[in-house]
Amino acid sequence: MTNIAFITGATSGFGRAAARRFAQDGWSLVLSGRRMERLIELKEELNNVPVHIIQLDVRDDQAVKTAVTELPAEFAQIKVLINNAGLALAPQSAEKVDLKDWHTMIDTNITGLVNVTHALLPTLIKTGAGSSVINIGSIAGEWPYPGSHVYGASKAFVKQFSYNLRCDLLGTGVRVTDIAPGMAETEFTLVRTKGDQQASDNLYKTTTPLSAEDIAEQMFYVATLPDHININRLEVMPTRQAWSPFAVDRD
Ligand SMILES: NC(=O)c1ccc[n+]([C@@H]2O[C@H](COP(=O)([O-])OP(=O)(O)OC[C@H]3O[C@@H](n4cnc5c(N)ncnc54)[C@H](OP(=O)(O)O)[C@@H]3O)[C@@H](O)[C@H]2O)c1
Repeated sequence: MTNIAFITGATSGFGRAAARRFAQDGWSLVLSGRRMERLIELKEELNNVPVHIIQLDVRDDQAVKTAVTELPAEFAQIKVLINNAGLALAPQSAEKVDLKDWHTMIDTNITGLVNVTHALLPTLIKTGAGSSVINIGSIAGEWPYPGSHVYGASKAFVKQFSYNLRCDLLGTGVRVTDIAPGMAETEFTLVRTKGDQQASDNLYKTTTPLSAEDIAEQMFYVATLPDHININRLEVMPTRQAWSPFAVDRD
């Protein structure tokens, strides 16, 4: 059977690096994201494997359903779903956040992920042993920090949804993993700060963040383990990142 991966958010960062990593091992790819010109570029780059691109906003459940129903036959039997599309917005304190930004994070990181999972679960169950749902969570889903508010909460959803899915999928052979990265240099901070390149550069300089390729390698590892192994959650931080002591309000 051909190995086929369906990757959301393949236009940048982890998703694009994952597309390259899976292509390196000859996987067929279904790549989605909102920026069509980037998908076209990536398809041209990955000309060693069959690639199907879909301009898709994961928040649109009908569009997701249509994209899955209309997959060309040679891309239909998905083996691995990488639910990667997501974003953080509003790094400021909760009371200063525009409500729209909270809604966008919930709609993308939770509703979007659920939309794609729901559309592809029957296919993955049909593929059976060795298939996987790889959800991209975050250390923010486990560890609180100032300015994380809805972002961290949305990634806590990803963690618990992944665990719960495992219960329901028991016996189907479908694996579920929550990969929870720490600080990684992608377009993530540019998006979070709404285009502040300087803020993004400042965050990553003078330390050694994870790269998109580091996380893509973890995705590939999880997806290609022997069928009987399920990594439930994989939390990955740069060596140069750790926790701080609890903050205390004093007089
Ligand atoms: N970088 C980090 O430090 C870090 C750490 C932990 C977890 N994460 C998580 O890793 C995932 C990937 O982020 P990244 O770091 O690779 O950031 P990135 O470079 O900004 O990539 C985000 C991807 O998500 C896609 N996306 C965003 N909203 C979308 C929507 N509504 N519909 C479809 N696609 C959408 C973007 O594509 P389009 O804009 O073209 O649609 C883009 O391809 C996210 O879930 C993020 O929360 C990142």
